[in-house]
Amino acid sequence: MMNRWVIPGSILASVLLLGYILHRRKRKKADQQRWTTFWATVTTGFESIARSEIIWKLQRWEEGSAMEVRFGHEDAPGKVIFFIEESRPSGETLNRLKRLYSVQQMMVAIFIESNYPPSKEALSRMADLPRHAGGTEAWSRALDVWRRWRRECGDDAPAVRGQAVPVFRVTAAHSGKHEFHSTDIGQAMAAGIAGHLGWPADLKNYDFEIYAHLRYDTLTVGIPLTRKSINDSSVRATEQQAAQDDQPDQLVSAAIDDGAQDAPAGGQPSRGWKRRKIIDDSTNSLSLLDPAKRERSCTNLRPAVAYCLTLTAGLHEAPAGTLAADPMCGSNTIIEVATAEEPILRRCFFIAGDSQSVPIDKTYANLQRLPARRARIDVVRWTAERLPLRSDVLDVIVTDMPFGKRLSCADQLRTVYPRCLKEFHRSLSVEGRAVLLTGAAYRLIRREIDRQGQLGAEATHPWVCVRDSAISMGGLHPVVFALNKKAREVRR
Ligand SMILES: C[S@@+](CC[C@H](N)C(=O)[O-])C[C@H]1O[C@@H](n2cnc3c(N)ncnc32)[C@H](O)[C@@H]1O
Repeated sequence: MMNRWVIPGSILASVLLLGYILHRRKRKKADQQRWTTFWATVTTGFESIARSEIIWKLQRWEEGSAMEVRFGHEDAPGKVIFFIEESRPSGETLNRLKRLYSVQQMMVAIFIESNYPPSKEALSRMADLPRHAGGTEAWSRALDVWRRWRRECGDDAPAVRGQAVPVFRVTAAHSGKHEFHSTDIGQAMAAGIAGHLGWPADLKNYDFEIYAHLRYDTLTVGIPLTRKSINDSSVRATEQQAAQDDQPDQLVSAAIDDGAQDAPAGGQPSRGWKRRKIIDDSTNSLSLLDPAKRERSCTNLRPAVAYCLTLTAGLHEAPAGTLAADPMCGSNTIIEVATAEEPILRRCFFIAGDSQSVPIDKTYANLQRLPARRARIDVVRWTAERLPLRSDVLDVIVTDMPFGKRLSCADQLRTVYPRCLKEFHRSLSVEGRAVLLTGAAYRLIRREIDRQGQLGAEATHPWVCVRDSAISMGGLHPVVFALNKKAREVRR
């Protein structure tokens, strides 16, 4: 009697389970098609700042134009994954994405998958394209985004216009312990793509690149949209150097055509990015920081880092009439980057100062070359250790303090940093904020903040440290402080 019921019951359960799985798959696919995934590389340590910029620019930019943005949990240093609710991002959305200044490189993600084993078994899974989330359709959609982005940037190559089959190459990297190398990932993926999609691969003469990063057991694959970093460092001297710099550590490229590694016969120009004249994306990014048009110093900050400092200082939300200063301005990267944003340009006044005449001259020269931007910037030669300003006048201080070889004498730092901090405190208004990028001497700042904490009631307006963490900058790990000058509550 029991058996008669047990068998149909288990069959029913299996049928229900199967139905549920199919239903979930269908829903997942439909959901995936509603969203487009982007993968942004950002300065390590500034991921949360980049997320806030994405929210600001995509979701809250204009009243009534709310676009749904979600963030992925595949967090890794220097990586931000986000989804926008548009199956085919509009031209307006692409333009907004280009205005994300904290982003170094933007990619349209094709798929993100977890549970890859560390063994070579993972390679066969990588090559089996239709099994990946979104299937082959995800690849054509990503290619479509790439084409439209490139067209918006003025690239009219046949592959971009859709008049030729685009040639790709795979660039792969991995982090964690795996029984294979990055080259193996590249080769497996290139073979899978060429086999399933019929796209030709060529290591040198390629139209677009496919980036694959296996981090422990999670594989993220995408197509870079920017030829070079959106806010490419103005430090980079040559295009070739830029191409080399853009390669992350341990990064290896691979395509199935081994012969492609050789230079093209007869030295003919190749179609590869490094050889082709790079189309200037800067019309859509910080063109004012075009290295060719700026006076730079050897201590120049990367525009993306400078921009993140301005967001940390909250300049994008500053009320009208805000007075901000960079008391150690160098060639004035921070203020120039800040004024690239219309709301900051409209609402803020700036003072740029430096103790040396050469940076001051460069700052002047750079201001004169700025397009008619109506920026209200005064330039002063001063020492940040004794600012010629009244007390409590500045609303914001944001600066990149000298560190490393620029002011390598430890004795000098020991006196300069505390004196500057004291002056910044004096000239800031109550509730004002100082954002300081510091090198190894960050300990001096921490010590000063601790000292104030121990002063108790004597410190009427103590610093309150709201951020104190390192970023990764060209092999260095400077610390970013965000300090608020607070009024101590008086207990009666
Ligand atoms: C790290 S650099 C700033 C670079 C700048 N962010 C840029 O992108 O060009 C530090 C600057 O602080 C200046 N400096 C050093 N000691 C100073 C002081 N006591 N007062 C004012 N400026 C000072 C140096 O001349 C240098 O230009």
